Amino acid sequence: MPTGVPEPSLLPLVHSKRPTLTRSLEGTYRSLKATSLTLRQHEPGVSFEPMTGGRGPVILPGVSSIRRAAAAVAKPINLTGRANETESQMNLPRYYFPGESNKVDLDFANLGFDYTPCPYRFEAVFQHGVWRVRGLIEDSNMTIPEGSQCLHYGQELFEGMKVQSGPDGRAYAFRPYDNARRLNSGARYLCGPEVPEELFVRGIEEVAAANYPYIPPHGSGAALYVRPFYLGIGDNVGVKPARSYVFRIFVTPVGPYFKGGFGPDQGKAFMVSRLDRAAPQGSGHVKAGGNYACSFTPGQEAKDRGFVEALYLDPREHRYIEEIGAANFLGFRDGKLVTPDSQSVLPSVTRLSILEIASTIFGWTTEERKIALEELSEMESVACCGTAAVISWISRVADENREWNFEFDERWQQLYDALVGIQTGSVDDPFGWRHEIPLK
Ligand code: PLP
Ligand code: COI
Repeated sequence: MPTGVPEPSLLPLVHSKRPTLTRSLEGTYRSLKATSLTLRQHEPGVSFEPMTGGRGPVILPGVSSIRRAAAAVAKPINLTGRANETESQMNLPRYYFPGESNKVDLDFANLGFDYTPCPYRFEAVFQHGVWRVRGLIEDSNMTIPEGSQCLHYGQELFEGMKVQSGPDGRAYAFRPYDNARRLNSGARYLCGPEVPEELFVRGIEEVAAANYPYIPPHGSGAALYVRPFYLGIGDNVGVKPARSYVFRIFVTPVGPYFKGGFGPDQGKAFMVSRLDRAAPQGSGHVKAGGNYACSFTPGQEAKDRGFVEALYLDPREHRYIEEIGAANFLGFRDGKLVTPDSQSVLPSVTRLSILEIASTIFGWTTEERKIALEELSEMESVACCGTAAVISWISRVADENREWNFEFDERWQQLYDALVGIQTGSVDDPFGWRHEIPLK
């Protein structure tokens, strides 16, 4: 549970002295080495690196080999507090369990897609052209300047990923570099600095490992949902990009996104919306918070009529299928797996993976192309997919005066088993998508 340890406000940061940085590679290596050690030796309950300038853990662009070397010398996190601790390991985040269990006492198998607080989150702050790693922190609250661009002008991005347990208790993220790249395409679009991929992935490793007892056990059907997010902050009122940024990652154990999860009797119903979530040449292809605020009304209208979510059509002609709530669309037609090609659709990591599994493992033909709503009459079976939604097959789509009904198709089960099997380490991963979280 969060301890409520007071966190230093971010406000002083905005006015802090410019950090003194050693620009030589050797100096960079030293400060990165210090970063790794400080991060991993952070004691819960003691505030991390002082936020008032001075030499702090930094990540500069363009030194990835040095960063890798620095990561290699990092000390391991001791999660269990078992014997053989050295003096320096005594201050690491630790958990003590009365029995054999190394998981918190949660009913993992019956979780919904809800927020359960976990002890640690990871944070880095961008100022003066440098990402400063704050590391693991305990306070789930944030203090930011009231003029911050994220609050007024929607300069915010987020990602969604899952960490899942393998049969052997190891923990795996899924294609985290793809999420890092998608966040950075959003950062470029919102005119903010990119988050170095190594920082993004290391943050996920740190926060997942520190919250290890909250990673649902293998076979529970639940996962640790990972929510990296990115905020433009500062004392500001004009419509312009921020100079300072926060990158934070919180985690929370979750069950199925759509009630009931996946199964042959779990078809979901969606309503075609006349409203749009994104403009034709707008921000639909990036994961900006503003896109989701725009989806509240269409989503609510669908739910009020008894549907699970809204299905969006293309914003220019309202003729082609775009996406479904926070998930991409998939369908089988003439034995081919088809999915919309559109610049206003979010490029889903799950969809990309499903297409690769379909063609490489099952040898099915896949197509990314425009799919007219009328084509639903020709579809054998349809589904939607995403990190949260996984694969959810669709039993009904309703327009104002038309309706399409579908049966479950065994091919969804094949795709689901292959995808979730790879994610959870229960089948081989021929693609190298699984990213093991270092636990010790
Ligand atoms: N489409 C939208 C609008 C989403 O919010 C998401 C969720 O991230 C997806 C699709 C699925 O993307 P991914 O598979 O990368 O989670
Ligand atoms: C995800 O699938 O990770 C998403 O981001 C969906 C989310 C909006 C809950």
